[in-house]
Amino acid sequence: MESEIQGCSVLVVGASAGIGRSAAKSFAAAGANVMAVGRREENLRSLADEVALKWCAADITEPNEPARIIAETIREFGGIDILVNVAAVSPMVLLSQASPEALLSVFNSNVVGPSQVCRSALAHLNQNAIVAFVSSETVGRPRRGLVPYGASKAALEELVNGWRVENPEFRFATVRVGATIGTDFGRDFGGDLLGECLNDWIKGGHLSANMMNPGDVGEALAETLAIGFLHPTVELTDFSLRPPGPLADLG
Ligand SMILES: NC(=O)c1ccc[n+]([C@@H]2O[C@H](COP(=O)([O-])OP(=O)(O)OC[C@H]3O[C@@H](n4cnc5c(N)ncnc54)[C@H](OP(=O)(O)O)[C@@H]3O)[C@@H](O)[C@H]2O)c1
Repeated sequence: MESEIQGCSVLVVGASAGIGRSAAKSFAAAGANVMAVGRREENLRSLADEVALKWCAADITEPNEPARIIAETIREFGGIDILVNVAAVSPMVLLSQASPEALLSVFNSNVVGPSQVCRSALAHLNQNAIVAFVSSETVGRPRRGLVPYGASKAALEELVNGWRVENPEFRFATVRVGATIGTDFGRDFGGDLLGECLNDWIKGGHLSANMMNPGDVGEALAETLAIGFLHPTVELTDFSLRPPGPLADLG
């Protein structure tokens, strides 16, 4: 990966935990100039202690923050070669219980924020840039308790298709990720509802027997985008990173 990515500038939004943290580390370890973004400053500081990168603590749902993230990135690196949005929230709530505020909050984090970061970045994308958005394999296969999250990812994917239509000079990719354990993804999962939903997911064939770990997923994400960057005449549109093997069963 080093030869592909050495000296490139990479912005990872959602790099303070989980898959994004691992991707940012992989890019930086391979010699890229990396800007890592997330809300938790202490997590970004500890990431920067592990590997040489720049960081910017910011909440992409706040009105002026996407523009500030891009301004910081451009001040440090001058342009952007790879922008990957990994940031998302995944509150567990049944539709019958979901208030308008709850739904808007998920869509703000998972759709509006990532799109505004892309909007601010557009004028600063280098030639052959790739802009990737992490989605989920739950799109098109709604899971009890995670429908607002799944709906937000479906909206995100359609938005990526739209970014591609309106800006054909750049490459836009959707990356569908499958079950990954050991991230902060489940931090908003409620205990009782989770137990009830897990059975439902297994019965519905939604859960794989194996789970991936964020280290491997982040590395695979960074390496795949690096290969895509190396081949500017090839459009890297959509790909999935999911655990191999069978589905989980109740037995
Ligand atoms: N884990 C899974 O099983 C799984 C399955 C399918 C898809 N995915 C997708 O994979 C991606 C990464 O998930 P993960 O499991 O690594 O989750 P995670 O550990 O919760 O990481 C999410 C990242 O997004 C950041 N973030 C969230 N809201 C933000 C905001 N408003 N502004 C800035 N940063 C924000 C979080 O940091 P702060 O809290 O510090 O802001 C964190 O760095 C997500 O897009 C998720 O939907 C995960």
